[in-house]
Amino acid sequence: MMYYRPAKAYINLPALKSNLQYAQKLAPNSKVLAVIKANGYGHGIERVANQLSGADAFGVASIDEAMLLRQKGFLHRILLLEGLFSAAEIPVIIQNRLDIVVHSEYQLDWLLNNAIPMQTNVWIKIDTGMHRLGFDVQQLASVIAKLERSDNEFSIHVMSHFASADEESTQGQKFTQAQMEKFHSATQTYQYPKSLANSAGLVLYPDSHYEWVRPGICLYGAGGLTKPNYREESLKAVMQLESEIIAIKTIQVGESVGYGNTWTATRKSLIGVIAIGYGDGYPRHAKTGTPVLINGQKLPLVGRVSMDMITVDLTDIESPASIGDKAILWGDSLPVDEVAEFSGTIGYELLCGVTKRVPMIEIQ
Ligand SMILES: Cc1ncc(COP(=O)(O)O)c(C=O)c1O
Repeated sequence: MMYYRPAKAYINLPALKSNLQYAQKLAPNSKVLAVIKANGYGHGIERVANQLSGADAFGVASIDEAMLLRQKGFLHRILLLEGLFSAAEIPVIIQNRLDIVVHSEYQLDWLLNNAIPMQTNVWIKIDTGMHRLGFDVQQLASVIAKLERSDNEFSIHVMSHFASADEESTQGQKFTQAQMEKFHSATQTYQYPKSLANSAGLVLYPDSHYEWVRPGICLYGAGGLTKPNYREESLKAVMQLESEIIAIKTIQVGESVGYGNTWTATRKSLIGVIAIGYGDGYPRHAKTGTPVLINGQKLPLVGRVSMDMITVDLTDIESPASIGDKAILWGDSLPVDEVAEFSGTIGYELLCGVTKRVPMIEIQ
């Protein structure tokens, strides 16, 4: 297939596999539920599932995502992380043998008030501090009792979700410890399989591993976790977003660049124009100074991001750039999380946001 525009996202398939192996190594006594919702965090759900087929289960956000996997022939356990949005989903869940989260009373009622003619894996979600989804810990006993007493046959699991396990601050760490303690004390009397750890829990908090870990972002080689050697040696960025220089321009002191004239040269400057923009998912809010990798050097974005182009200050480049030279927007040598920080967001959003017009090219 010929792609004429140079903006492309390369997907490093072996990196997905080795990131999974690393996750398995970190939690050798746990099963791994690989979170591949939102089109595999923007990498393409089918290709991601193929590479992560060694996982024990997949986590998705909806039946639509789960069905996509079933239609492609994946027989893994698939957990609907937000459970059911309506009771009408029950027959589909039965037919496709899906695992479901139950986080609220209304979902529990659907499970108890509908005949389910097969054993179903139910993951009771409790709220240990995130205050988004989940039963209060005090409700756990009664939820379990209701499921146990039901004529339907439920295989019970208990889970919760971290709010700030990836925050390195003392406050973030304290909060995470408190969530772990709350989870432990709420669940310790039950022998059911338990799950608490997301990527940050998996990497930074071994006591949170329990029977199932649920990594997402670390499988894609992102997440900004900075435990020594964590990223550099063990996890590889899966996506590399690239484009090329399509124009080089010299501008004089006092001249400005791009929409809104937001950046003005204070010295005679060499500006490179790269064929990538917010129409491709490069963040429009990326500030002047956002790093772009050209000829192995991080150079600053200047001026506003346009729909199809960005402008980069090449004045200090050590090995001179030419038209057609590659520009890396993020990838293994330029973490997506670093780029995200310059636009007030997180790597997750950038990875999920690469638009359809950017061809994804698999590296085998
Ligand atoms: C319930 C649940 N578990 C696990 C994950 C994976 O989180 P992460 O990508 O931070 O590893 C998510 C992602 O949002 C989630 O919602």
